[in-house]
Amino acid sequence: MKRKTITLATFHRHLVLRVAMVGIVVALFFGGLTWYQQRAEVIDHILERVVSGTRLFNHRIGYLTHQPSWPEPEAVQTELDRHLSESARGVVEREGRFIYVAILDREAGLLASQVDETYPHVDALRARRDELKATLQAARSDFYRIYRLDGIPYVLTATPLLGMNREVLGYAETIFAVSEEALQAGYRNIRRTVFSVMGIVFLTTLLIYPSILTLTRRLSKLTINLLDANMETLKVLGSAIAKRDSDTDAHNYRVTLYAVRIAESLALDNATIQSLIKGAFLHDVGKIGVRDAILLKPGRLDDREYTIMKQHVSHGLDIVNRSRWLKDAVDVVGYHHEKYAGEGYNEGLQGEEIPITARIFAVADVFDALTSKRPYKDPFSYEETMDILEEGRRSHFDPRVLDAFASIAQDLYAAFAGREDQVLKDTLETVIQRYFSADAAIQPT
Ligand SMILES: [Fe+2]
Repeated sequence: MKRKTITLATFHRHLVLRVAMVGIVVALFFGGLTWYQQRAEVIDHILERVVSGTRLFNHRIGYLTHQPSWPEPEAVQTELDRHLSESARGVVEREGRFIYVAILDREAGLLASQVDETYPHVDALRARRDELKATLQAARSDFYRIYRLDGIPYVLTATPLLGMNREVLGYAETIFAVSEEALQAGYRNIRRTVFSVMGIVFLTTLLIYPSILTLTRRLSKLTINLLDANMETLKVLGSAIAKRDSDTDAHNYRVTLYAVRIAESLALDNATIQSLIKGAFLHDVGKIGVRDAILLKPGRLDDREYTIMKQHVSHGLDIVNRSRWLKDAVDVVGYHHEKYAGEGYNEGLQGEEIPITARIFAVADVFDALTSKRPYKDPFSYEETMDILEEGRRSHFDPRVLDAFASIAQDLYAAFAGREDQVLKDTLETVIQRYFSADAAIQPT
């Protein structure tokens, strides 16, 4: 998976989109919350008016219950008719109207009632009232329930009518229909409040945007500086060992380029290629710990010297393990001398036991050694080099890696073999930027 470099314009677009999305989500959340609260408040307000209307009405007919027994139903009906229009209706008419008012005795038997038979839902509501009868009989205090029919809320109330000694003598029961005007006015208020809240939340989120941008730029700059410092460490360490080994930096540069191209043709992921780059730079860093007499010996090493020379792998592991950032290099540093058939060192791993980065590096390293001029040899031709690599198929090299390399080797040879100039450095710099900078930096357009 190839990672794209983020440009400042892309970053701006992403940031604006994310900030806007967060703004919208937060605004919707608080808008919803406000809607819920405001709606409850509107209903509470209407309910309060209905209950106070009912109470006033009950108060006005209270003298009926302060007698030894209920008057005749006709007398109660007369009192009900007399008081209804001037009390309950008058109090709440802006919010709606009572479409049913009844006086019931203690057993919920009807003493008197007034019903607006012209009202469309009056029968359906009366049926609901009957369902509540049991609840009503148990009620010792104000009781109400809200119903909706065709989107219009109705409030059913039941209030106990108390005698002189606070005993329940009966009930006043009402059905109140909320007016369309009251409903619309309530919803208008809710909408206004909800939109204000959403607007404020969204604007506040957008106002935060410049601060986020500034902080991100600062953070990005710090991260770039940190990355530059880390990359310098990598180059300095690689260069230090190259100098000791009478080699040039160019060997490190070329093997890194070759290895990255092989990894790309095998479609390895970004993190693996990053560790391959670090490992390729530092593969022989452990040679710092090998004595000059052995490291720089012109002739063949004897067995004892060879054993000491091989220790450069464990020295290298000691070095890279000391740095969290360089630790990624352990696979190449620790296993670059392993061979596919298990004849290598330090651990004699076989096949896919050897990390893929080390198997790739082994091909790149031998290819570069063969195609480069050394004090003791001239460079081999491309064909000779590929023949030698082919001889190592399955014994030294992973056949899958070798196949991947064979398909790009001719181009790599033509472009970089034996090269030590600025073009090589620039090409490598581009590769490093591609694999490391996207993690850390926002590139100016
Ligand atoms: Fe080595």
